[in-house]
Amino acid sequence: MTTESKFIKRIEKNDFAIRVEDLKKYFEDVKAVDGISFEIKKGECFSFLGPNGAGKTTTINILACYMKPTSGVATLFDYDVVKEPKKVKQHIGICPQENIFFEELTVFENVMFFGKMYNVDKKELLERANDLILKVGLEEKRKTRADKLSGGMKRRLNLIIGLVHDPDVLFLDEPTAGLDPQTRRLIWDYIRELKTRKKTIFLTTHYMDEADELSDRIGIIDYGKIIAMDTPDGLKATIGKGDMLEIKLEGKKDAILQKTEEIKNLDYVLSSYYVEEDLITRIMAMDGIGKIGKIIKFFTSVDLNVVDVNVKANSLENVFIELTGRSLRN
Ligand SMILES: Nc1ncnc2c1ncn2[C@@H]1O[C@H](COP(=O)(O)OP(=O)(O)OP(=O)(O)O)[C@@H](O)[C@H]1O
Ligand SMILES: [Mg+2]
Repeated sequence: MTTESKFIKRIEKNDFAIRVEDLKKYFEDVKAVDGISFEIKKGECFSFLGPNGAGKTTTINILACYMKPTSGVATLFDYDVVKEPKKVKQHIGICPQENIFFEELTVFENVMFFGKMYNVDKKELLERANDLILKVGLEEKRKTRADKLSGGMKRRLNLIIGLVHDPDVLFLDEPTAGLDPQTRRLIWDYIRELKTRKKTIFLTTHYMDEADELSDRIGIIDYGKIIAMDTPDGLKATIGKGDMLEIKLEGKKDAILQKTEEIKNLDYVLSSYYVEEDLITRIMAMDGIGKIGKIIKFFTSVDLNVVDVNVKANSLENVFIELTGRSLRN
């Protein structure tokens, strides 16, 4: 390798905050993480979108040096998470899925405690604590003991104590789980601000809208494997311009199955299948919304009744359903 090509390679490599190669974590027979590879650029917001048990938290735990992988390599700014955990920890902040603050300390005391633990300069810590408490709307509760906060307030406290040392790389494990829509938007605004400050963010979520709103790229993870990875628009484009219709039919099952097959012959129908567990026929169709009338007519022309129709415009949820055959909320 020439000096020049070595130099070029180094620059490319330095573009990445996180690199993961063929990472696996097995808990006896459970393949929690099963050979995942991805890279996150500096300043990028990358999300893992996946259902319960997909392997999101396990991946974060490995990258944040809480857990060793079974095999594979993961580096953060070229520091190996297994061999150089001290170096890695200097650059990261984490909002874990489970709250980790001290119940008997107030909001303010908790933030100060974690800041001191990270050796943040005293004057700076005070300013930052006040700023963070304000940003996530906990100002009125700054003197309230953590165990007296509501569930949503506890989540917000959990988020800011992980960020009080202003780290370069943030791991946010379901930061808005269980929050009301208004508070979720507040947290989203804060995450957007972190993005403008060029922080690298690794977010996990099972909210489609959250992944869509905040991410530069999304990895869809299921059973420990990344089954798709792209920008939000890129992922949506993989299923074309189709809309998804879920139709509940009443009648003989044989007739339902037959019509579910037959409807595939219509030129605007992209796919159609019967979902046994939900007793619905799921149809992906070009301009499905505009074609609802025709589709309903198609089924009611035999001895079937349409008892419910649910329409989902092109969304990440449809991408997930198309890839896995399951809904993300199940
Ligand atoms: N310490 C452990 N011991 C045994 N199995 C584990 C352990 N931690 C996780 N698992 C299993 O590994 C799989 C992945 O779990 P993980 O917590 O990474 O999922 P997740 O995507 O974060 O799910 P959720 O959305 O529910 O938080 C699950 O089947 C889980 O039961
Ligand atoms: Mg999790």
